[in-house]
Amino acid sequence: MKGAVIFDLDGVIVSTDDCHYRAWQQLADEEGIYFDAEINQRLRGVSRMDSLEIILERADRNYTNEEKKVLADRKNAYYRELIQALTPDNILPGVGPILAGLKEHGIKIAVGSSSKNTPLILDRIGLKDYFDAVADGNDLSKSKPDPEVFLLAAERLGVPPEHCVVVEDADAGVEAALAAGMRVLGVGAAAANLRATLRADSLDGLTWADLSKLPTLE
Ligand code: BG6
Ligand code: MG
Repeated sequence: MKGAVIFDLDGVIVSTDDCHYRAWQQLADEEGIYFDAEINQRLRGVSRMDSLEIILERADRNYTNEEKKVLADRKNAYYRELIQALTPDNILPGVGPILAGLKEHGIKIAVGSSSKNTPLILDRIGLKDYFDAVADGNDLSKSKPDPEVFLLAAERLGVPPEHCVVVEDADAGVEAALAAGMRVLGVGAAAANLRATLRADSLDGLTWADLSKLPTLE
């Protein structure tokens, strides 16, 4: 049977990861909480509230649930202002040809993202109606590394998990894909993750045929 490829969004299809980083940095600075690039790495693929919990590990006081909600909303407002500037030019190199190649060869494509901003981002980059299915943070009760997002994407595609390949840039996403029983191509920050089935620095230069070498897509 024909398989499917499920793409993470942030850091795989579009480079919004720097916008997340800048928005969290602004919030942390305003709150006087230490934050740096290393801590930021731990936020990749992780939901907004779980990311906030990681940032608050360095806070010198406890925050109530109400305060946490206000902080998360503030970060999201900073982030949404930054992503308003996104256009189709921000689609990462290599993504367009791979998506087109997969479609042309009858392999279904989906987005599997922890982000509640997925609909806005897909709209901004001109890919709103391009995918066969989307599963995102608005649908989920558990964040990556839980497999929920990828299992839901596969269900919406009507393709069994063992016939799905995930493309991920986050270690949490690699674990989520493996836990879903899927193979995974690690790109970007996940190119160094030895748990990934395949690894590449980016999608640039890869073709749909490279992905189809994975037996799941045959
Ligand atoms: C993931 C990002 O895709 O989405 C994380 O890698 C982010 O950094 C998460 O925290 C949730 O995003 P949002 O847009 O719902 O705050
Ligand atoms: Mg990502």
